[in-house]
Amino acid sequence: MSLCLKRRSVRNFHTTAIEDTKIEALFKSAMQAPSARNQQPWEFYVIKNPTLLKKLATVSNGARHLDGAPLGILALMRKAVPAPDMCSQDLSAATQNILLEATNQALGAVWIGVYPKADRLKKVAEIIDIPESLTPFCLIALGYPATDASPKPLRYDISRIKVFE
Ligand SMILES: Cc1cc2nc3c(=O)[nH]c(=O)nc-3n(C[C@H](O)[C@H](O)[C@H](O)COP(=O)(O)O)c2cc1C
Repeated sequence: MSLCLKRRSVRNFHTTAIEDTKIEALFKSAMQAPSARNQQPWEFYVIKNPTLLKKLATVSNGARHLDGAPLGILALMRKAVPAPDMCSQDLSAATQNILLEATNQALGAVWIGVYPKADRLKKVAEIIDIPESLTPFCLIALGYPATDASPKPLRYDISRIKVFE
């Protein structure tokens, strides 16, 4: 089964630390993502500190899964790039690559939306010192799954596809 069909959000994790080789694999995949004008606007903060993860878990209701996760990633966008208006799309591609690589590494992960919600951006900046040159994009909670991580039923819906011949 392809990684795309296997991937699902996982929100409960064992406390077991993720091996550094696996973390490196996540970022190799992230940075292989396509980006507008190949601008590669991404930066990543790797958060292993439980106190910091607990604080980040308060950024939104959906961020609570960071509390107790062994690893959090904050993905950020560089502002000084050729096509700043495309950055959120570039970061989406990189984030999806992380989720797919996590599946490949038998890890669980969930995308936690931050950008463009002003309240969440503010809260992230209150918790972590963010340089003026960067904008937070999303958080990702990761770890070995403590709950069902089996693939979900297919959402394939042929009616969403229109073919022009
Ligand atoms: C932009 C975006 C923001 C999301 N934010 C959250 C979030 O804050 N908390 C959360 O638990 N899941 C979040 N998710 C995950 C979605 O809830 C999840 O992908 C969706 O329910 C489909 O489930 P699946 O990923 O298991 O296929 C987000 C996903 C995306 C793409």
